[in-house]
Amino acid sequence: MKTSPYPHLQQRDAKPVTVSDLARMKAEGEKIACLTAYDASFAALEDRAGVDVVLVGDSLGMVVQGNSTTVPVTVDDMVYHSRITAAGLSRAFLMTDLPFLSYGTKHDALETSRRLMGEGMAQMVKFEGGEIQADTIEHLSMRGVPVCAHIGLQPQLVHKMGGFKVQGRGDAAETMIRDAKLLEESGADVILLECVPSALGAEITANANVPVIGIGAGPDTDGQILVIYDILGLSPGRKPRFVKNYMDNADTLDAAVTEYVAEVKDGRYPGAEHAFS
Ligand code: KIV
Repeated sequence: MKTSPYPHLQQRDAKPVTVSDLARMKAEGEKIACLTAYDASFAALEDRAGVDVVLVGDSLGMVVQGNSTTVPVTVDDMVYHSRITAAGLSRAFLMTDLPFLSYGTKHDALETSRRLMGEGMAQMVKFEGGEIQADTIEHLSMRGVPVCAHIGLQPQLVHKMGGFKVQGRGDAAETMIRDAKLLEESGADVILLECVPSALGAEITANANVPVIGIGAGPDTDGQILVIYDILGLSPGRKPRFVKNYMDNADTLDAAVTEYVAEVKDGRYPGAEHAFS
């Protein structure tokens, strides 16, 4: 059991999920259920519902802070939200994002990871980028920092890419397959694949020796992740295709999150209507 300043939020006798459990789940074909959280109460709710990995995503810049992108999020923001999210967890594994331009050099990446793990209690850091991040991943991995490599749609590049668009179509598919392999060989423990055609999600997952978590990457990745506010119907405006509102058929937040976990585990989520071709 992890220690917390908020013991009333914690489950008793929960065996914490480790990075080895994630590898075992891939090997045994057990789907990994992941969700974002940004504070202790939502973290505790997700923990109770059986979420395996909680991500303190820099999506907090949009869903918590109300910005239109993740770009304004600071390292201090991530440290604060990671720490208060960790306080609600007993079982789930905690992953936290490195925010925009906080990992431009290997030195910056190591220092930001030190803060997120040391002050923010993260158990793994996640950051965006393909081949360009291989050296940084190797640098962190060799110094004991567990890393999730985020490829496909990279929301921090929104201004460079001109919007949030599906990635990996046509010739770009081969590059992404090569990048995924390179990042794994550089030491990434997990790969996160965002907004790619389902066939590409399936191929990258089949080639990978580490767990691949998808968001809008089809049904064949080793696990799924969504933004908690999206599955509770709290996010205003047009929804991405892969979002499912679990409050449509639930009376309570607990029931909604429990149903999300059940659907990821038995493969009912994502359906064909949530996938890209
Ligand atoms: O920041 C975030 O919430 C994420 C997920 C959308 C994967 O990176």
